Amino acid sequence: MTIIHTISELTESLARARQAHCNGIGLVPTMGALHAGHASLVRRSLAENELTVVSIFVNPTQFNDSADLDRYPRTLQADCTLLESLLAETTTHACHQQPEIMVFAPSVEEVYPKPDTRRFSYPPTDSVMEGARRPGHFNGVCQIVSRLFEWCCPDKAYFGEKDFQQIAVIRAMMADLGFQFELVACPIVREESGLALSSRNALLTDDERQTATHISRTLFASVEYARTHSVRETHDWVMSEINAQAGLEVEYFEIVDALSLLPVTAWDAAPHIQGCITVHCGQTPIRLIDNICYR
Ligand code: PAF
Repeated sequence: MTIIHTISELTESLARARQAHCNGIGLVPTMGALHAGHASLVRRSLAENELTVVSIFVNPTQFNDSADLDRYPRTLQADCTLLESLLAETTTHACHQQPEIMVFAPSVEEVYPKPDTRRFSYPPTDSVMEGARRPGHFNGVCQIVSRLFEWCCPDKAYFGEKDFQQIAVIRAMMADLGFQFELVACPIVREESGLALSSRNALLTDDERQTATHISRTLFASVEYARTHSVRETHDWVMSEINAQAGLEVEYFEIVDALSLLPVTAWDAAPHIQGCITVHCGQTPIRLIDNICYR
């Protein structure tokens, strides 16, 4: 496993890999503090590509709250240990090349030698839900992800469905900028309790972590509830169930068309319908997101 810190090392190493006819380059963009959710993306990329680039970069331009940026966990050493262990568990047939991981961990100055003034706008995907509440967030995501795509030119890029809206925005950006490779959307990985894995979970106390399990339990139960109730009733039920729990406060819960991300008012209004939620948990509070498929 190699760890590189500069864009020139990254592009040169990838050019060399391509010259050597590397069989597929997978990109897994992350902000580090890697957990089993990230591990599932890396495993999938290792299975599908000869070389997997894992970028680890806490991207300042996507944080609209500087306290959130400051307390975001930074654990490069532990991240590399986890990646080494994923590589070690990969066994290949003798005739196949052993897959490789390249960790790209640049500094802020390396990525943004001067401020990135590019503006990305893909309404409604980036203007609803998180987009409405975190001004500039998706613009920052598009700034870093578009650069990673340009530098890596991957054959596939892997993203987790926990950030359901992020995937929709990145798909819109890919169509806009003409990136033609495949975006692989990977299912949410959950703790046994149902809590969706997130780097932010590390910031929860044990009690808060326990309280937070109420979010996914309510979402799962709401799928059953939705069979006999309207969209509005289901929406209101989820809101009141979660808000009734001490230590949890719903910021928003929206039941949306999974493609446009616009709210629906009937279960037959779109072929795929998703419930997307953001909840504030505990004293700090920590912002937790989750989502569920209704149909
Ligand atoms: O999902 C994330 O961790 C980040 O938004 C991403 C895609 C790595 C961009 O910084």
